[in-house]
Amino acid sequence: MSNGRRTESKLPDVGTTIFTVMSRRAIEQGAVNVGQGFPDYPIDPALADCVAEAMAGGFNQYAPMEGNVRLRGSIAAGIRASGGREVDAETEITVSCGGTESIYSAIQAVVGPGEEAIVFDPAYDAYDPAIRLAGGRCIHIPLAAPDFRYDWDRVRASMSERTRLIIINNPHNPACTVATAGDLDELARVVVERGARDRPITVLADEVYEHVLYDGRRHQSVMNHPVLKEHSFAVYSFGKTLHITGWRVGYCVAPAELTRELRKVHQFNAFSIAAPLQEGIRLYLERQPQASRDVGAFFSAKRDLLRAGLADSGLVMPPAQGSYFQLADFGQLPDFSDCSDVEFTERLINEARVAVIPLSPFYREAPANMRIVRLCVAKRDETLTLAAERITAYTNGIGRGRTT
Ligand SMILES: Cc1ncc(COP(=O)(O)O)c(C=O)c1O
Repeated sequence: MSNGRRTESKLPDVGTTIFTVMSRRAIEQGAVNVGQGFPDYPIDPALADCVAEAMAGGFNQYAPMEGNVRLRGSIAAGIRASGGREVDAETEITVSCGGTESIYSAIQAVVGPGEEAIVFDPAYDAYDPAIRLAGGRCIHIPLAAPDFRYDWDRVRASMSERTRLIIINNPHNPACTVATAGDLDELARVVVERGARDRPITVLADEVYEHVLYDGRRHQSVMNHPVLKEHSFAVYSFGKTLHITGWRVGYCVAPAELTRELRKVHQFNAFSIAAPLQEGIRLYLERQPQASRDVGAFFSAKRDLLRAGLADSGLVMPPAQGSYFQLADFGQLPDFSDCSDVEFTERLINEARVAVIPLSPFYREAPANMRIVRLCVAKRDETLTLAAERITAYTNGIGRGRTT
């Protein structure tokens, strides 16, 4: 019953995310869920044992605000071991509530009222609301079709003296692309050109899929770029790397000056992150140092399984370079030629009982003829096989079969 109160919303247009909606619908419909990006397979029991050990060992009270000291040390050691730059664990690493909280805190730290932040569409949904809650304006620039590449001239043209932040996501969700060394050089040029004339511009690099790279690619991090490393927050997620999205543990690497500002927000936002989880992760990284390095091969086998399963579906699948998703274009299926991506998703869940994610919610203004959906490969092999079988049976029965 309404009490007559009308709360003025700070985010009137924001509803429940498409990921939550599709997961809920998947349960209602008894559908196979290859939509939302979370693993449906068990975690490594050794990781759970590490957390139990941490709890038994007394890691049950507030962790340090910046993060478990030894965990930050092992993060810095991991960066060094993979050929990255020397990071000062004390002043440059902050453990956060998932990558999401690092993103939020970084945005609040640098964007002020009336200032602008640039994001590239399709964009992960956490950026725009956080910018607006900071009082800022979010400038959406589309990645250029058909390969979702950066248009750096358009970036330059979209900048103003109010621009404070540029957010990139690499490897990219949902485009499944990776930024090139040339992209980072261009970004560095943009940052330096502007910074020389106006107030400095900061980069927020969402690198939560840093280890999920396919076909021999190497991750190009802002953290290791000679110029960008001085101007960037780089955000990571143990959720993605260790298959524990529900634990909500991530971290941010940034130069001391930026880290100081990020922590001012973090300490009044999350304050500190679950102590036994941090210590458990630390123990696990010490005992299984290869764990994060294995994820590329692990997900690439799953990507290949899904692609092979969908080979006869009539869906066109651009090669995924990274992130744990695969895009599928249904534009070639005659019976779906009038469908939007949202309608196609609805039909798949209702009629084929498979949940996927449409691409248009990742845009402020989606292209009119959007015919692409996103599938998550971080699923058991049986889940991927079943999803592919159901989709293939459906598109052949409804789409292609009837027309041939
Ligand atoms: C591009 C991107 N950034 C950030 C996140 C959030 O990471 P976390 O679950 O660690 O908060 C996700 C999660 O799906 C993501 O896809």
